[in-house]
Amino acid sequence: MTDIMSADKTTNEAGQPQAGVRVELGERSYDIEIGGGLLNRAGKMIADRAGRRKCAILTDENVAPLHLEKLQQGLDQAGLSHDVIILPPGEATKSFTPLANACERLLAMQIERGDLIIAFGGGVIGDFAGFAASILRRGMDFVQIPTTLLSQVDSSVGGKTGINTGQGKNLVGSFHQPRLVIIDTDVLETLPARELRAGYAEVVKYGLIDDPVFFAWLQENGPRILAGDEQARTRAIATSCRAKARIVARDERESGVRALLNLGHTFGHALEAFAGYDGRLLHGEGISIGMVMAFELSERLGLCKKGAADQVEQHFRTVGLPTRIKEMNVSPGPSADALLESMAQDKKVRDGKLVFILARDIGESYIDTSVPMDVLADYLREQC
Ligand code: GLY
Repeated sequence: MTDIMSADKTTNEAGQPQAGVRVELGERSYDIEIGGGLLNRAGKMIADRAGRRKCAILTDENVAPLHLEKLQQGLDQAGLSHDVIILPPGEATKSFTPLANACERLLAMQIERGDLIIAFGGGVIGDFAGFAASILRRGMDFVQIPTTLLSQVDSSVGGKTGINTGQGKNLVGSFHQPRLVIIDTDVLETLPARELRAGYAEVVKYGLIDDPVFFAWLQENGPRILAGDEQARTRAIATSCRAKARIVARDERESGVRALLNLGHTFGHALEAFAGYDGRLLHGEGISIGMVMAFELSERLGLCKKGAADQVEQHFRTVGLPTRIKEMNVSPGPSADALLESMAQDKKVRDGKLVFILARDIGESYIDTSVPMDVLADYLREQC
């Protein structure tokens, strides 16, 4: 349960809110530092926690012109030497050829096993750089500096790294925890509003999983978070990271409770796959629709308190997120059969059964592998 009401009273010298979260994983434990203006101090933070080593920054063509200079200045001030690889933005970077090229370039830079990789970007860069760090010289340390709301509250925490293949997303990868996560909330100022909203869907997810108090707080504060209120933003990010850290500490490699983080993803991934990862449906938009579907299916199966799905949908609508398949910017839209086929190929299939995260109420999600196929098919036909 959240401590949202009492959390995060700390501020930095400029009066900006700050928070810290610890991911407890024994000798692989690490801190997540959250607040405004942290990019300036990232060099010192890295030097303090990870020692003075040579750094290789992996970033993309969107982030570099906006924020790279500030990060490099901080590294210079802390006496950390650094090289940079700037990759094209987008999912296509998360594949074998760019990975092989990046590894060759890192080796050519004479990055040694004791040096440090810095993942500086959104989810694509974080997953890609983390995976490169996990295989280069049989495993190197890395630091996550996520620059999108989605990567700040989800993908930079918990150590999932990887690339896509022709068969699907994230099918080649590893669990490799970062040494430190630095979340500068100021960088969200340059994020397009649509991406910010999409990331916000992952924030709401934590309320829906097991924290109704947080969901109620988001119902009140969601618009402020999206409009740029620093305090509300820092609280929302810190509460999300705390929730994720708690789950990851219990189940690092997703053999149980970590699957709850996939709320909305069984439907959402199928919708994303149909849309083709070309920007017409962002991940957060897919899971916004997917979470409403998970709640509706739960209600239809008689498992969830009536009215919960409406509340979820209403909140997503209030902040401008899509909640229905028909709102996808894809024509013609998916058929029920196409979605069922895609779900059957997803990683969230265990022993041939689809794994759904369903809900008994807001904040009471659970793992279910017994959804009857006929009910699912009927529901999808209605929605498509
Ligand atoms: N994004 C889901 C997880 O990290 O497990």
